Amino acid sequence: MASLDLINIHKSFGGTHVLHDISIGLADGEFLVLVGPSGCGKSTLMNIIAGLEEPSGGLVRLGGRDITQAGPADRNISMVFQSYALYPNMTVAKNIEFPLQMRKVPRNVRSERVNSVAKLLQIEHLLERKPRQLSGGQRQRVAIGRALARDPQLYLFDEPLSNLDAQLRLDMRTEIKKLHQRLNASIVYVTHDQIEAMTLATRIAVMKGGVLQQLGTPHEVYNRPANTFVAGFMGSPRMNLARARLQAADGALALDIQIGDRPRALIPLPASVPQALHAFAGREVVAGIRAEAISVANGAEVGPNTRFVDAQVEVIEPTGADTLVVLNLGGHEFTARLDPDVQLAPGQSARFAVDLTKLVCFDPQTEALIA
Ligand SMILES: Nc1ncnc2c1ncn2[C@@H]1O[C@H](COP(=O)(O)OP(=O)(O)O)[C@@H](O)[C@H]1O
Ligand SMILES: [Mg+2]
Repeated sequence: MASLDLINIHKSFGGTHVLHDISIGLADGEFLVLVGPSGCGKSTLMNIIAGLEEPSGGLVRLGGRDITQAGPADRNISMVFQSYALYPNMTVAKNIEFPLQMRKVPRNVRSERVNSVAKLLQIEHLLERKPRQLSGGQRQRVAIGRALARDPQLYLFDEPLSNLDAQLRLDMRTEIKKLHQRLNASIVYVTHDQIEAMTLATRIAVMKGGVLQQLGTPHEVYNRPANTFVAGFMGSPRMNLARARLQAADGALALDIQIGDRPRALIPLPASVPQALHAFAGREVVAGIRAEAISVANGAEVGPNTRFVDAQVEVIEPTGADTLVVLNLGGHEFTARLDPDVQLAPGQSARFAVDLTKLVCFDPQTEALIA
């Protein structure tokens, strides 16, 4: 396995600039997930790594070697496509073996690889079947098996689970994670599903409109989103975002999140807020708080970063493990992730506790994280 460096990658199709100055470094053994809405350039970037597209500018290095000009066959990279791209007339065994044959791997090594991959993916009983005799999940396993048999320096997966139904997706997701743990492989994995990104990645690259928005660990991307797009895209439910005025009195800051003629909702901030936020005193910010940072105030002991707010319950959505409650706070809607046993009714007013250690604020002009 090997490291991968994408350095200032640009790509235009005719006059359309679809990738803008993408730089990403991937260490040996990392599981990088590229995530972003449909059309943001994920597949184009994958095709550039694989050598199926040429970048309009920039460099691709694999294991330190510049491969920007190398053809796909001269890169030691295996790719699994969304469509699986199995050969319909070949058996499963032959599908897995064929790329090895193309690379002139000796016959005895080939059959050894086919057998060990089949065992790993539990498809030994399918080896003599043709792709049309397989279910979607089985075909996906064969496509992964074919990639694994090659023993490349890097694996690329482009939305490999998006043709599978919900339960199978979850099962395969776990299997792909196990595979990574077992093989310690370097992987670049594309998805438009932010939950898949969170669960699989060692690091996540969030893209929008061909621009890299943030490169970070799942924890960083979730807790310290680089801008309001990332804050809204990652996590379900999405992060609560509300325009707020940052007031200053006696050197302390408070968030005024009232809009219209709603009752005032003023939230004093802890003295420990980052210095950068003080520069926004007297101005507007976009305040962001995750649903799980809001709980029902129950009189239990609370830390110095907890504040109480009164809000009206608008909608209650039980999900089983927890219950999502939409609150009206100062005229804004906030979603809280609460215990399923919580006793609340729509229309009711109640007191909630907000954990401000989880508060993030964004610049309303640039939409970038302030602190
Ligand atoms: N061969 C091509 N010619 C022209 N435009 C393309 C080509 N391939 C992709 N694009 C455009 O580039 C953008 C990014 O596409 P793509 O990389 O497939 O996005 P994603 O995989 O994130 O959905 C889209 O606007 C798409 O229409
Ligand atoms: Mg794509």
